[in-house]
Amino acid sequence: MSEIITRRAFLSNMWVWGAGLMGAAGAWTSWDLLQPIDTGGFGGQIRGAPVDAVPTDAEVLTIPGARAYLTTINGEITALYWKCTHLGCRVPWCDTSGQFECPCHGSVFNRAGDYRAGPAPRGLDRFPIEIQDGIVLIDTSTIIEGPPPGGEVIDEPPKGPPCVEEA
Ligand code: FES
Repeated sequence: MSEIITRRAFLSNMWVWGAGLMGAAGAWTSWDLLQPIDTGGFGGQIRGAPVDAVPTDAEVLTIPGARAYLTTINGEITALYWKCTHLGCRVPWCDTSGQFECPCHGSVFNRAGDYRAGPAPRGLDRFPIEIQDGIVLIDTSTIIEGPPPGGEVIDEPPKGPPCVEEA
């Protein structure tokens, strides 16, 4: 015995199904939005660059999202925090001298981030890195304090004129 569905009953059922679907979609969207996500922002793990892109010569690669520089020191990729250890200014890389030179009060750091001159109390701080599938990941949630003055690990004297003139 077959049941005959009237047009009114059919439409009424469709409204119920439609409302149910709308509710489910809204619930899914809300649940999805409330999930913790890895934003990849500063303070977390940042995709730095492919390993091949990290300079192996006397250069650095800027990773703005991590506020860091990647370079290779004695065969090891190193991530240096660009924040000056004196009063926190951003320390840019100077192409002509091959050093980091702070524009605020003149602290200078070599390519390994080691202290060379100025009022900074230590070398540039570092971030731990991890390599996954050929990509350097920079962990900006952990800051490793830079080394005290007097322990340069590379011997790279300035290769040319500074970007920041001494006061
Ligand atoms: Fe860099 Fe003062 S903030 S030397």
